[in-house]
Amino acid sequence: MTRPPSLTVRAAAKLNLHLGVGGPREDGYHPLATVYQAVSLYDDLTGHRAPGLSVDLTAARHVVAGDVPSGEGNIVARAAALLEAHHGVPLGATVTLHKEIPVAGGLAGGSADAAAALVLLDRLWELDTPEPDLLRLAGALGSDVPFALVGGTAVGSGRGELVTPTADPGTWWWVVVPSPSGLSTPAVYRHWDRLHPDGPVAPASVDRMVAAVASGDPRAVAAALHNDLQVAALDLRPDLGALLARGEAEGALGGQVTGSGPTCVFLCEDGDHARAVAAGLRGAGRPVAMVATGPVAGAHLVVA
Ligand code: C5P
Repeated sequence: MTRPPSLTVRAAAKLNLHLGVGGPREDGYHPLATVYQAVSLYDDLTGHRAPGLSVDLTAARHVVAGDVPSGEGNIVARAAALLEAHHGVPLGATVTLHKEIPVAGGLAGGSADAAAALVLLDRLWELDTPEPDLLRLAGALGSDVPFALVGGTAVGSGRGELVTPTADPGTWWWVVVPSPSGLSTPAVYRHWDRLHPDGPVAPASVDRMVAAVASGDPRAVAAALHNDLQVAALDLRPDLGALLARGEAEGALGGQVTGSGPTCVFLCEDGDHARAVAAGLRGAGRPVAMVATGPVAGAHLVVA
């Protein structure tokens, strides 16, 4: 029996170059003013049409695959269910998710998988879902999922789901250092609430980072790095403070926790500089120090 043709969709990890957080809204979410950047660390979703949905998982050695929810809780299954409900038809597929993006790391790996699933199923079943509809479904799956569709460098507002691309002439070189164990995003937000009982109503403006990115100057971006959640992540994981200090001692232009952590990212001057900083961190006992560049594309077809 010949197998139906298969497709592969690739989706990137995101960094938050700036993450301003406001006090919680009535629905419990926090208003955000963020600058996202998609970087060259990818999950791939490969699949072909089938009567029902099945999801197999493979993972790079640095990814703790056991931390990925399975069954109906898997975000690929949730994306499929939402797209099915939207079109009112069953959208079965046999898919394999290959993970390179660390789980529960603040890199929106699950959001990348959700965006990849929307794009893959849309193509496999030739649905031609209009982009505004895909973005709306993405927002229902998670605050970071619309950005995972859009990619590049963009400003996020609302709870992060409203995405506006921003001018970015640069090629930015990052060293990405995940942690062997993850942090729960809701737990980090809850802790931030405890640390800020009278939290600011409005999140800190993105303007400085937007201008720094547009200048193309890595030193300007390094000086503008900002993450309001970092204080909460460091409180829950004090070991991250030493990692941030180490990255700067190795010569990075700047470093911070990304998203809700615990992944730390370090901005470098260029590729040679990033490889040297990564080698220095590996020598200092951080075996997983990966070099990544941004901006890169949002979820897109790589094998047709
Ligand atoms: O939207 P998403 O499902 O990715 O969010 C995961 C959790 O992170 C939420 O349940 C909430 O606890 C927290 N969150 C938040 N404010 C945001 C985004 C996420 O409080 N803007």
